[in-house]
Amino acid sequence: MNLILESFKKKQIHTPIWFMRQAGRYLPEYQKIRSKYDDFMSLCNSVEDIVEVTLQPITRFDLDAAIIFSDILVIPQALGYKVEFKKNHGPQISGDIKDKEVNLSEKLKNCYQSINITRDKLAKKKALIGFSGAPWTLACYIFGKEKNYNDVKGLAYNKDKEFFEVFRVLTEKVYEHLRNQILNGADLVKIFDSWAGVLDSYHIEKLSFTPIKQIYHRLKEEFPATPIIIFSKDTATHNMGFNPDGLAFSYSENTELVLEKTDKDMCLQGNLDPIYLEIEDQDLVKNQVYKIMSSMKQRKHIFNLGHGINPRAKIENIEYVIDLVRGYKSE
Ligand code: CP3
Repeated sequence: MNLILESFKKKQIHTPIWFMRQAGRYLPEYQKIRSKYDDFMSLCNSVEDIVEVTLQPITRFDLDAAIIFSDILVIPQALGYKVEFKKNHGPQISGDIKDKEVNLSEKLKNCYQSINITRDKLAKKKALIGFSGAPWTLACYIFGKEKNYNDVKGLAYNKDKEFFEVFRVLTEKVYEHLRNQILNGADLVKIFDSWAGVLDSYHIEKLSFTPIKQIYHRLKEEFPATPIIIFSKDTATHNMGFNPDGLAFSYSENTELVLEKTDKDMCLQGNLDPIYLEIEDQDLVKNQVYKIMSSMKQRKHIFNLGHGINPRAKIENIEYVIDLVRGYKSE
């Protein structure tokens, strides 16, 4: 039984588990592959290594889902922007859009081919997740030079023409990228709006929820059976104006309020603070995992972190959390 896909049906029996950024620098086997590349984005373009890195956390931890190894910044790169990861800096984007009509099926074919191959290699009971950044978060990286989100907000609030033209192109490309991933074998997809929470409430609606809802409905029309999870960071208690299949929520959210404000049939995903994967005291880890499990017992729930794993995460904490979730019995 594919526990992740079951979680979106009427009644859930077991709580599945996977981790945001589960393939990454805390894993020695990832470091080994990573060291072959100077540039992170080149790894995201190499079919054989994408497949291997995607499967590493499944092989090691037997998690319930694999997420295709890629990055949200492949879309800006495909559009012609220059994407760089410099030491001790976040991602940096420069240049301009070269081709608004870029054919993603061609430009990102290695990503789609990797999905195809990974789906074949992965056991049927494991889900393969595809993903994309949301238009707002991608715009933050494109216009935010050196993480200055106030500049990006300024452009948006000022109704800057160029900003909104790029935003329109991004909305279209995010849709196409997710569609291509589903067509190539992704069992479900997730949309990351990691920077939604920096906006005021009017613009959360306008720049986060509205385009996501549009993309969501376009995908649903063609793929009604493919679950879609939305991660709009720090906005889980807002009214999104529609009920997605799944909502991933961050560790900073008030759980009671999330439970109260979200549709009872919606599957919730989250929300352990990744710092628990670094700390020494195992009792504290156990308390927090049990607290999350207990608060979610009336709901369909996929156990996960509230944000991505940090490079300092300890393998033994990850193993411990998985055991706790799988062994959990609610009284
Ligand atoms: O979850 C997975 O295992 C799949 C792979 C995945 C990566 N990035 C790989 C990655 C996913 C789902 C992402 C999503 C992503 N990328 C998001 C949305 C989720 C979130 O964290 O909010 C964002 C905002 C990005 C942009 C990005 N890419 C950042 C901020 C960084 C970190 C920069 C740094 O050096 O810490 C990346 C790089 C990145 N993406 C790494 C990995 C494993 C680390 C780079 C490396 O290995 O050198």
